[in-house]
Amino acid sequence: MEKMVIEGGHPLYGRVKINGAKNAALPIMAACLLTKGTSKLKGIPNLTDVTTLCKILNHLGVVTERRPDGSLEIAVKEEKNVTAPYDLVRTMRASICVLGPLLGKRGMAKVSIPGGCSIGPRPVNLHIKGIKSLGAQVKVKDGYIIATGKRLKGNVVYLGGPYGSTVLGTCNVIMAAALGEGRTIIDNAACEPEVQDLVNFLNKAGAKISGIGEKNLIIDGVDELNGIEYEIIPDRIEAGTFMIAGAIIGGNIVLENDIACHLTSVVDKLQEIGADIQISNENKESCNGTKYCECIVKSNGEIRPTNITTLPYPGIPTDMQAQFTALLSIAKGVSIITERIFPHRFMHVAELNRMGANIRNEAAIAIINGVPSLSGTTVMASDLRASASLILAGLVAEGITEIRRLYHIDRGYERLEDRLSSLGAKIWREKE
Ligand code: EPU
Repeated sequence: MEKMVIEGGHPLYGRVKINGAKNAALPIMAACLLTKGTSKLKGIPNLTDVTTLCKILNHLGVVTERRPDGSLEIAVKEEKNVTAPYDLVRTMRASICVLGPLLGKRGMAKVSIPGGCSIGPRPVNLHIKGIKSLGAQVKVKDGYIIATGKRLKGNVVYLGGPYGSTVLGTCNVIMAAALGEGRTIIDNAACEPEVQDLVNFLNKAGAKISGIGEKNLIIDGVDELNGIEYEIIPDRIEAGTFMIAGAIIGGNIVLENDIACHLTSVVDKLQEIGADIQISNENKESCNGTKYCECIVKSNGEIRPTNITTLPYPGIPTDMQAQFTALLSIAKGVSIITERIFPHRFMHVAELNRMGANIRNEAAIAIINGVPSLSGTTVMASDLRASASLILAGLVAEGITEIRRLYHIDRGYERLEDRLSSLGAKIWREKE
């Protein structure tokens, strides 16, 4: 096992390129199950979650290959197997995103039910409700969702749950309906940029989906989809994490290959509390017309307190909550964070408190009394974004911070320590 070691107190200067989005890559890779021929996906990051999904796809008769140019080629070779087994699914809850395409293309899917995790319960009732509305027969047996239905039939599907819509549930219904018969309307569809990217991929492959980024998505079933070349969007959560790195320790960094409009709420909040963020060079265009840019993040490390509520897109993402918690722990005053997507997602609070933060978590709220400084110690990462928040805290803490259970960070950030080192941070891996 490895641990991350950080010597705090070094401001960040320089340029860093934002990688492709994990949460766009995973459903788009799964969507290749719907296609004939080979797809060439550019910008797929090197992450353990991507490797896990490749293993599941391989198990389902799909060949996946990294090409020398970094792209990932995906080709369906045989379509007999319809099972995503527990041993693969248990390591990554996003494996549920093979449910829709398997059912839509092969007429049957048997997918292990993902358990809960350290960010709270992860129900799949809306996924099941969605595919049932399209005519699938669904039963849950021996820990598996078993769904059957030869060509699914379009219908109106409402996807609202207690915490709003569902990102992967929307992706599953879109993929199940893409090769179905007639028109499906998803009411209260998730609008996240990663869902939009999936729809752009499918439309380029031959699907007929309109209402991209809107609450009502309209899917007119087609007979087939073809393999294509496609470049996925940059990772807005990775970009936001680097922005907070710049804000927490100070300095002047430039993020390359970002899409600013995916991060408006985060940029707005960071500007409000003291970071200077400028967007420049909107030059390259993504396939849906949004512009790639550079973001310049300057800060003197002085942070004002604020209140934050996580919300579905375009609100502040839950995947940025832990990083904001770390940042606000050194703000000059009291901040309140309300988590409206995963109300139990506060495992990082106890670890930040071990570093000298003063945070109280009650129900879905964290009350953060800003402290003048944090101090390095040994802490445990509990999930991907919690790991990121501890790294951010380590950048500003006095002395040495050691982060254990490092495997979480490799699920969602590619070589994070190398990229922070290139900006001047003192951060490295060691054997535990
Ligand atoms: N929910 C239900 N029923 C369902 C599905 C979800 O009640 O059938 C609830 C959830 O419990 C939660 C809310 O709806 O309270 C939203 O969950 P959602 O389904 O949108 O989450 P997800 O699709 O499983 C994706 C991301 C998460 C991100 C959430 C919210 C991927 C691979 N994962 O999960 O990313 O936090 O959307 O934006 O896209 C991460 O990258 O660290 C991560 C956890």
